[in-house]
Amino acid sequence: MTEKPVLRVLAGDPVWPPPVWLMRQAGRYLPEYQAIRQEGGFIARCTTPDLATEITLQPVRRFGMDAAILFSDILILPWAMGQELNFVDGEGPVMAPVRDVAALGSLEIARAPERTAPVMETVRRVRAALPPACTLLGFAGGPFTVACYMVEGGGSRDFAATRTLSYSHPVFFDRLIELLVQGTVEYLAAQIEAGADAVMLFDSWAGILPPRQFASRVIAPTAAIVAALNQRFPGVKIIGFPRLAGTLVADYVEQTGVDCVGLDTGVDAAGIAAGLPETVAVQGNLDPMLLIAGGDALREETGRIRDALRGRPHIFNLGHGILPQTPPGHVADLVDALRQVA
Ligand code: CP3
Repeated sequence: MTEKPVLRVLAGDPVWPPPVWLMRQAGRYLPEYQAIRQEGGFIARCTTPDLATEITLQPVRRFGMDAAILFSDILILPWAMGQELNFVDGEGPVMAPVRDVAALGSLEIARAPERTAPVMETVRRVRAALPPACTLLGFAGGPFTVACYMVEGGGSRDFAATRTLSYSHPVFFDRLIELLVQGTVEYLAAQIEAGADAVMLFDSWAGILPPRQFASRVIAPTAAIVAALNQRFPGVKIIGFPRLAGTLVADYVEQTGVDCVGLDTGVDAAGIAAGLPETVAVQGNLDPMLLIAGGDALREETGRIRDALRGRPHIFNLGHGILPQTPPGHVADLVDALRQVA
């Protein structure tokens, strides 16, 4: 039996009080991250093991989180396969769009292991440095979400080019998704081999699709990744985060085989959980805005979500990533409120 609370929950056991980590816990709201940030570009930070290891450990050290999430990005995989990527201050990622067969043909999974070797070195170093009860989470983007950025050439309010292309050139879009499924399996397998205890798929834009497209572009590729990883690493735990999926969460859980599902802020966590098999863990749901507001509102809602999911396998987390303007003291308050149980 593992002594890591997060892994126990992922195995289907309720743990009380629930273990906690926060999406985007490593990053811009921390002064100790800002200090490192002066030293170069974002991709360089992700691919310099000294820096990425330190940034991964910062929130664990400061708040005693029950999990560390590897400091990297979901766009490192397309970058490692050969797509041009830059992070522009104040603008986010900018990529050379992939919208035709020539651009798709220039991407190669075989190129990725060399470019992501420093990421795997980071995983090994973090693994060696973490306290024994702390779980190390590897991650990748969900194929659909990664495709959104790849086709669009960066972020977007509605990913109109991507969604249009998926209807007008479905064969092309399927090939892109298939490439990402294969690339993601290899990338996550390498993280697991380097020492990640479990892995998470961030599918941040999953819920912008209508149900039939959600089935083919989110559920099917996720199921393929889960099946391939389970075959290679029997017993490995996988968290899926189909953000904005709403009523489709139950289908997602049932048809992908994930061990845990991340819930965004838009659902009633206990209501959704009641419709899932009782050994499937849930994670998430707290509004990141509450972490900015702090105070009684934060403490009360933290306690409410925790108590509403009592008796279920539950990992406490936010419904989306920590925002940069979050006061670090509020994160400490959240962890404290969560662990104060009668
Ligand atoms: O959670 C963590 O602390 C681990 C690291 C992590 C980052 N990005 C670091 C990062 C993780 C798990 C991600 C996931 C990610 N990246 C997602 C899925 C989750 C979500 O928030 O929806 C997405 C869509 C991306 C793509 C991405 N990366 C965007 C759109 C941006 C720019 C906007 C933003 O949030 O900053 C990034 C940059 C990025 N990724 C930063 C960090 C710490 C900021 C870089 C900096 O300014 O130093």
